[in-house]
Amino acid sequence: MYLRVLCFSSCAYQINKNALSINFNIKCMEEIYNRIELGLRNHVIGKRIYHYKKLKSTQLLAISLAENNIKNEEGTVIIADQQDEGRGRGKKKWSSPIGGLWMSLIIKPRIEFTKFNMISVISAISVCESINRISQLKTSILWPNDVLFNNKKLAGILIDSSINNSINDYVVIGIGINIDIDISKINLSHASNSILSRKVTSIQNEIKGRAIDRFILMKQILEKIELYLSLLENDKYNSIIISIYKQLFDTLGKKIIVYQDGLRKYSATVRDIDTYGGLILERDDNSLEKIYTGQISIRENN
Ligand code: BTN
Repeated sequence: MYLRVLCFSSCAYQINKNALSINFNIKCMEEIYNRIELGLRNHVIGKRIYHYKKLKSTQLLAISLAENNIKNEEGTVIIADQQDEGRGRGKKKWSSPIGGLWMSLIIKPRIEFTKFNMISVISAISVCESINRISQLKTSILWPNDVLFNNKKLAGILIDSSINNSINDYVVIGIGINIDIDISKINLSHASNSILSRKVTSIQNEIKGRAIDRFILMKQILEKIELYLSLLENDKYNSIIISIYKQLFDTLGKKIIVYQDGLRKYSATVRDIDTYGGLILERDDNSLEKIYTGQISIRENN
């Protein structure tokens, strides 16, 4: 078995008024543009890869597939060369010109509800480790799942899920990596590409000259997510996953600002990461707080 990449020129779909349920023209998915061998034998993640030249958002299409569970979509990956309406966390936009890796994958994790936050943890580890390996850059994770180089955002992860304890449960992991992108082309107004619309970079901007093959990077990320997911299904590996996360997370002991819904909430010092990836903070009034959602930025005066 080989990994198939199916490429489509475009796909029309519309969002229903009420929901994330999206009707799209499934016929346009029948035309195979390209097939490549990436050697992901016997893997679930990547068993089908739909490659588009342009989409509104790979995330929206993946959610639509997962909602409709068309052809048992567990493991399906959607990749687009560019997105017109890329989505970032906190309802922000994600600027997605040609040159990046913009992909979404559908998983159906067999884990308890309490562990769902760990999907974000393993996605961040997988993206960070894969970028480091391919580019030799030493990137790090900014909680919960941004990947930074020298405090500039290089990649972001968006998790959408529908969890009702049923066989239709799914998680869509959206991954955006600035690879061969002139950062002046990234539109930062209202975008989540940077840390709170400030600092952004791309792999090419940092390594200058050496080409990065986005399909090789994609393959590594998919392999790692599949591996970490299998570890996650076994309780005894949870602490190992958290210790790997902590090695890539260089914010322990640092002073940060916490934002919720894009608004500055309070400042605090990072004390630890809990068993399920929550951030343990000491607020400036010395009270302890644990958060699982939101966004942080590192204070200048560290
Ligand atoms: C963030 O805000 O940091 C998350 C950004 C996630 C962007 C990716 S690009 C592929 C996928 N499709 C989208 O529309 N968004 C995600």
